[in-house]
Amino acid sequence: MILALESSCDESALALFDPTSGLAGEWVHSQMAVHEKHGGVVPDLATREHLRTIGPLLAEVRRGHDLSQVDAVAVTHGPGLAGCLAIGVAAAKALAVALQRPLLTVNHLRGHAFSPFIPLHGQAPETFEASLATLLPHLGLIVSGGNTLLFRLDANRRIEVISTTRDDAAGEALDKGAKLLGLGYPGGPLVEKWAGQGDATAFDFPRGIGPRADLDFSFSGLKTALRYRLEKMTPTEIEGRMADLCASYQQAVIDALVRKTRLALKTDAYRSIGLSGGVANNRTLRAALAGLAERRAGLTFLAAEPRHTGDNAGMIAFAAWADPTVSPLTDWSGEIDPSLPLAPAS
Ligand code: KG4
Repeated sequence: MILALESSCDESALALFDPTSGLAGEWVHSQMAVHEKHGGVVPDLATREHLRTIGPLLAEVRRGHDLSQVDAVAVTHGPGLAGCLAIGVAAAKALAVALQRPLLTVNHLRGHAFSPFIPLHGQAPETFEASLATLLPHLGLIVSGGNTLLFRLDANRRIEVISTTRDDAAGEALDKGAKLLGLGYPGGPLVEKWAGQGDATAFDFPRGIGPRADLDFSFSGLKTALRYRLEKMTPTEIEGRMADLCASYQQAVIDALVRKTRLALKTDAYRSIGLSGGVANNRTLRAALAGLAERRAGLTFLAAEPRHTGDNAGMIAFAAWADPTVSPLTDWSGEIDPSLPLAPAS
């Protein structure tokens, strides 16, 4: 049984994962209400909030579970906000020492990378290894507030980054777009809500960068295009066309993501596509990638479940077990790494 802690940004989370039966419990405290009024995550407030909530969350876990059954403690050690990571790592070190168990440090992005495989494990833990083998090599798309990248997971579960964003992340583009439109934070879900009643072809927004063969993403031009468009409209016009603006803007983000994913698929004999990170909640994006996979024989689409798209400890516990690069910490002065990459540059 693995007990995992996650505190890299604005969610304090704990999870228990049993490799033979799956996730035994997940506990999350969202700080959304604290940061909402500031229009984004305030690092100092986030750190304090983790400090305030991690103890009570742990007490809740202890009420229902016997911690002496825990075989290892896992914790996110990067990337993320330094103060936030430090709270989780300090708590995890103390727990591991108290329980006399190994401490596994997990890369938050690798948590996202492995998260689409959690349902596969949940369905049949005993045959997971064999099922996974049929899905590799795997093309993964991580889309969150801070990252947008494509990676390849090979038959040895080695991860290689294929492309990243040159500027804003997809979630950031949606959040910044929502801000320009006068909607709240976080923008992605609000844009999606409006988009549901709008015409995605009403406005023509750019779809990222060329040349076509380039697999990198870029969303800053899209945000600028929205700003120029809004400058030409009156507040009443913007209000009246909100649904069309959101639908067109969201579609431009999705088209850019799907276009590069489709292009990347041509570079190898991929057997599955994975979608993870906060933006993976978007139903139009999920449907677009599912459609892409459906049109290709032998390609399976795997998406992280909604509870594992944002920051959560379930994916950290799972990656602690599934990611072959995770090993017990030998140096107890082990550090956090706020800018830890998904994989070393090749
Ligand atoms: O960064 P992230 O994986 O997790 C947390 O920090 O919790 O996800 C947050 C990002 C934000 O940019 C948010 O706008 C976006 O995910 N997001 C969405 C949706 N839900 C969250 N974007 C599009 N559609 C959604 N339904």
